[in-house]
Parts: sequence; structure tokens; C-alpha cells
Amino acid sequence: EVPSISERYDNSFTIGAAVEPYQLEGMNGEVLKRHYTSIVAENVMKPINIQPEEGKFNFKEADKIVKFAKENNMDLRFHTLIWHSQVPEWFFLDKNGNPMIEETDPKQREKNKKLLLKRVEKHVKTIVKRYKNDVDAWDVVNEVIDEYASNDKGLRESPWYQITGTDYIKVAFETARKYGGKDAKLYINDYNTEVQPKRDLLYNLVKDLLEQGVPIDGVGHQAHIQIGWPSIQEIEDSIRLFASLGLDNQITELDVSLYGWPPRPAYPTYEDIPESEFERQAVRYNALFELYVRLDSNISNVTFWGIADNHTWLNDRAEQYNDGVGVDAPFVFDNEYQVKPAYDVIMD
Ligand code: G3I
Repeated sequence: EVPSISERYDNSFTIGAAVEPYQLEGMNGEVLKRHYTSIVAENVMKPINIQPEEGKFNFKEADKIVKFAKENNMDLRFHTLIWHSQVPEWFFLDKNGNPMIEETDPKQREKNKKLLLKRVEKHVKTIVKRYKNDVDAWDVVNEVIDEYASNDKGLRESPWYQITGTDYIKVAFETARKYGGKDAKLYINDYNTEVQPKRDLLYNLVKDLLEQGVPIDGVGHQAHIQIGWPSIQEIEDSIRLFASLGLDNQITELDVSLYGWPPRPAYPTYEDIPESEFERQAVRYNALFELYVRLDSNISNVTFWGIADNHTWLNDRAEQYNDGVGVDAPFVFDNEYQVKPAYDVIMD
């Protein structure tokens, strides 16, 4: 058995992995227990899985992950209370079943807004009450910034935004605080938090919300990164910037793709990936963890968006952009759970 990654980083931050319930068993389960002290659900705690129909909450799959975390003394991140993706349509339908975003009458729009905010409150309240003693960090809202949005603040023009402005964000955080208590650690989570103009758009929003008294404790940096992008300097600047607001930082969805964006061309199978790619990736992991340790007073958790290379959303992406044939290899364990050069460097 190889030494545990989380033990190695014990003095700095907890090390986590994203999981599907089926990964709690077998080899995945073994690797999880040995190397990670924190877990997060890759999908089963998202709105569409937790409240597929109005008022019909489904906690079955989520509970499996909560139970595993408890039994193995692991921290739990909750991902995610509010998001524009993987959210059921019913949230955005008015009392008559019509899409709220199509309403033109100002009075009716005001009513719809109230209704949607009540739904946000109920969703958040129900979940936070249920898991408040189990969850160590909440992704309260996910990906609310869109640097390509047509408004000058870069607010993602999701149905949440079109119907409520930024009130859905405020209500989500306030409700999480109200029912989670002051011990609930509340995060705003996003990708490309290192890259301009997105970094500053997120910063401006967070600063603004904090000034309005919205209870935000930290920023979640997804960190779906590449071997050469973004730069270590950009990553450092971003963490320091949010820390300057008095906030915690968590690295919430780390993976280091072998490719640029889009991931094309990709190696057709795992066996086609030359060892030199893993060496190149290890150099990146080395610089990254060196940085995280240097900033460890501002970083409380580093979570990989998966366990081993055999299960990663990046494999779906590699396939999708290469006519159905392509793999990626973003983690420190290979597709048979063996350690890669990246493991060796982060343990060194
Ligand atoms: O569960 C169904 C299954 O029944 C069906 O047969 C199958 C057919 O496509 O789809 C399954 O659902 C898939 C689901 O993952 C579970 O595997 C969805 O199609 C697929 O879109 C979904 O992808 C997830 C994606 O979020 C959705 O946007 C990825 O697993 C998940 O890794 C990814 O995670 C996101 C974070 O939440 C937020 N940040 C970005 C990150 C990567 O995209």
C-alpha cells in the first residue's frame, strides 16, 4: 500500500474526491478510504436529483454518500444547492405551468419572482436542515458568473437571474445561514476563477454581496485546469485576492487535463497515452501543490473531481470532441488505480 495523500497534507488542508454512489465500494472505496478525508457528490446532490418534482424530495442516493462520510470520519462538501444546470424545469414555471421568463406583465412578474424565491427558500431550508450536522462546506450557488453575459456585471442570465435578479443568491445564502447556523461554511463556487475578466467579475459580485451583509464564508475554485493553463501566478493572484476579503478558499473540482480546449485531438485509448504526457502532467501537479502549500493558511480543502482516470467527466468531453473516441487522464491515479508520476511529486 502506498502512503496516504491526505496524511501527507494533514498540516495544510483536507484532501477530497468527488464520487458517484457506486464508487463507494470496491477499489474506488479502498482508494477513497486510504487517500481522502473529504468527499463530495459528483451529481446526486444537485437540484434535479434532490427535488425532481416540486415538494418531492429524494435523498436516497445523497444519503449513501452522507453515510459513507460518517462511517469513515470524512468531511463532506455539499454540491450544490443552486445551479443553472441539472435543475428541473418546474422551478421556473408559474402557477399555471407557463414559463416565468415569458411573462411580460410587470405585476405578474413580481408575483412570479416571489414564488421562485419561496421555492429557493424551501429547497435550501429542507436540505440544510436535514444535513446541517453532516456537511462541512456548502456550495450554496454554483457558476453564477458568465463573462460572456450581455450585462456589464457578468451575471449569468439563467432563469434564476432573469426572474429574480441577484435576489436568488441572497435568499440562498441567507436561508442556508438561517437553518445551518453560524457553523455552516457557505461557499460561492465557480470555474475559471483565475482568469480575467471572470476573476474580477466574481470578485466584484462577492464584495458587493458581502457589503450587503450576505453571509458568504468562502470561494470555491473549481480548478478544471490544463497542463499549461492558467499560469501558477494567475492561480496565486486569485486565491490572494479572495483571501483579501477575509474569505476562505477551497479548491473544489481539481483535474488537470492533458489537452487544451476543446480537447482535440485526444488519444483514442488510455494505452495510447505516452509516459511523457504523465511526466509533463507531474511537473504541473508539482508546481500546483507547491503553491497550495505556500498559501495553505488561505486554503482549507483541495478536492479532486474524481478518484482515478477511469471515471472523469473529461473522458466524456474527449469523446464528444473526437467523434466518440478519446480519453483524458487528469488525476494522480491511473485507470487501474495505480499511482502516476503526479502522485510521486505531490508526495515528495
Ligand atoms: O444519470 C443519467 C443516466 O441515467 C443516463 O443514462 C446517462 C445518459 O447520458 O446520463 C446520466 O446523467 C449524466 C450525469 O452526469 C450522471 O452520469 C448526464 O447525462 C451528464 O450530463 C452528467 O454530467 C455531469 C455534469 O456535471 C453535468 O453538467 C458530470 O458527471 C459532472 O462531473 C459535472 O460536474 C460539473 C460540476 O457539477 C460543476 N462544475 C463543472 C463540472 C464538470 O462539468
